[in-house]
Amino acid sequence: MPPFSKNLLSWYDRCKRDLPWRHTTNPYFIWISEAMLQQTTVATVIPYYERFIQTLPTLKDLATAPEDQLLKLWAGLGYYSRVRNLKKAAQKVVGEFNGKLPSTAAQLKTLPGLGDYASAAVASIAFGEVIPVVDGNVLRVVARYKGIGDDIMLPKTREMVRDIMKELIDKKRPGDFNQAVMELGATVCTPKNTQCLLCPLRDGCTAYKSNQVHLLPIKVKKTKYMDVNLTCFVYQHKKSYWLTQRAQGEVNGMMWEFPLEESRPQRTDIKPVKHAIMNKRITVWPVIEKMSQKPKQAGSWIAITQLQEYPLTTITKKVLKSIQSVQF
Ligand code: ADE
Repeated sequence: MPPFSKNLLSWYDRCKRDLPWRHTTNPYFIWISEAMLQQTTVATVIPYYERFIQTLPTLKDLATAPEDQLLKLWAGLGYYSRVRNLKKAAQKVVGEFNGKLPSTAAQLKTLPGLGDYASAAVASIAFGEVIPVVDGNVLRVVARYKGIGDDIMLPKTREMVRDIMKELIDKKRPGDFNQAVMELGATVCTPKNTQCLLCPLRDGCTAYKSNQVHLLPIKVKKTKYMDVNLTCFVYQHKKSYWLTQRAQGEVNGMMWEFPLEESRPQRTDIKPVKHAIMNKRITVWPVIEKMSQKPKQAGSWIAITQLQEYPLTTITKKVLKSIQSVQF
């Protein structure tokens, strides 16, 4: 075994975090965990994962789950297209694969929402296929270990890292190997405050030996942020709020929210709420109005006691939280 793999796996066996999806061999559960872990941290994912698999314990349950139930299970994780794709993929598995998740990355990749990352993660962890995963953690670990100074945002660099990992991957324990690299990136070989003294790969690490850990990887940011101001109309009537439902097909489709307008109010006594999504940095300005008749925007009065029954957008949840002290 090359020292990379040997040292990494023995570290993983000693130090890996005790995570709920590491106690199962159920491919459906592993798939759900990896879908959630894309773009969301382990700490956030754990309670969502537990609730999801308790509520929808089989792939067939997911395939037939109503959309609003899925949105509620996902609310707070963001990127709701992920959960819509989960359902579409489950339906396809029921229709075309006899209800059993296919076992190779190539087949998994034919399912909606499963790209290179998720298909390799599920195939290696749940089915033992020898195929490397490349995510942000893997890119950082390998760029440092091999002293790669190319921009890791470029597809060419990612392919180079994938080729390196194809050589290094442990053929007997590919799933553990992949999880171990990601684990190292998440806990030791972190972007900042790197814990090199605890690292099992330190002896072979090019960046460590040349004192360049803090300089790698190179990541050229292209995204320019757009600042957006939204006025958020918090209409109150008796013990109800006026909420509107977003259209199907939009971002956060079918979720409920306070009416929003792209503007900044002249005056408001409430502290604005900040929200970042994609390349937008949104400042939300809540304006509370007590109403005796229907507001002009489309919507319905929803009793405060019923709010938890509705899938609410994250902005709306943040606004609700921030106005708690000034309600009624
Ligand atoms: N990040 C995404 N999936 C992971 C896993 N299975 N283990 C550690 N980190 C991860």
